[in-house]
Amino acid sequence: MSLVNIAELSESKIRYLLELTQFFEKHPNLHILEDRVVATLFFEPSTRTRLSFETAANRLGARVIGFSDPNATSSSKGESLKDTIMMVSNYADIIVMRHHLEGAARYASEVAPVPIVNAGDGANQHPTQTMLDLYTIYQTQGRLTDLNIYLVGDLKYGRTVHSLLMAMRHFNPTFHFIAPDELKMPQEYKDYCNEHHIKYVEHSDFTADTIANADILYMTRVQRERFTDLMEYERVKNMYILRADLLSKCRDNMKVLHPLPRLNEITPDVDNTKHAYYFQQAKNGLFARQAILCDTLGIGLDSEELKPYIEKD
Ligand code: CP
Repeated sequence: MSLVNIAELSESKIRYLLELTQFFEKHPNLHILEDRVVATLFFEPSTRTRLSFETAANRLGARVIGFSDPNATSSSKGESLKDTIMMVSNYADIIVMRHHLEGAARYASEVAPVPIVNAGDGANQHPTQTMLDLYTIYQTQGRLTDLNIYLVGDLKYGRTVHSLLMAMRHFNPTFHFIAPDELKMPQEYKDYCNEHHIKYVEHSDFTADTIANADILYMTRVQRERFTDLMEYERVKNMYILRADLLSKCRDNMKVLHPLPRLNEITPDVDNTKHAYYFQQAKNGLFARQAILCDTLGIGLDSEELKPYIEKD
């Protein structure tokens, strides 16, 4: 079964995937996918998502094929996405794909005979990032319910915040949106909040007082690659910068997360505070993606392959 849209996962499915993620954090080197081939098709740049998926596959014993530069493939000669997907389906058991077009993963899942995992489609969704975000939130807060989650920066094009918002609908969050006017949370996501009784507050200021009640401060990069008007990018790119002194009134438990890469929006002095958690967050991507690969390929906590390890735990 493909993983395209985080909104399609029930609360029990999310909790189950988090349990599977926890299992792989304890057992990251199980060769249970030895006869499988994982394809990673990255039509857009990536460091963490591609490398953590490939590490996840390698640590599970699978073989990996794929590309990180579409210019070195026949799509640069004009081959359609459908034909590319059909070809790669001949070679691999599962396709992990990042694409610049919103809806590309959905389209691929409709034409592919093998499961598709959405590794980011334009400004739309990044469901595997959300799974590692949820795992990190649970790891740092001890729960997913009733949290104050502050989303800061590019809320218009930020696919990670769109996916996180949708997944959190099961857990009674209160969201705080902090963004410049040009990058505000789109109306469709505010409508989603209203439909699902998700509380949210919008702010334009970013001060120690504004974030004093945060449990999670989720910073994001202003994404130059999504702007058609580069003057607008220049105007907004450094509007919200988190410096260590801004954390003076924060709750003890508050953690700063960021899907990374970061540019200027978190200064290096934050890295040494007890609130910084973005590097551990990225590490969790490995375990979350091991869980997603296995689940998508039909291997779960009740499978013969995992039973001996679960019994030992
Ligand atoms: N968080 C994330 O998607 O990072 P990459 O773009 O490096 O994959």
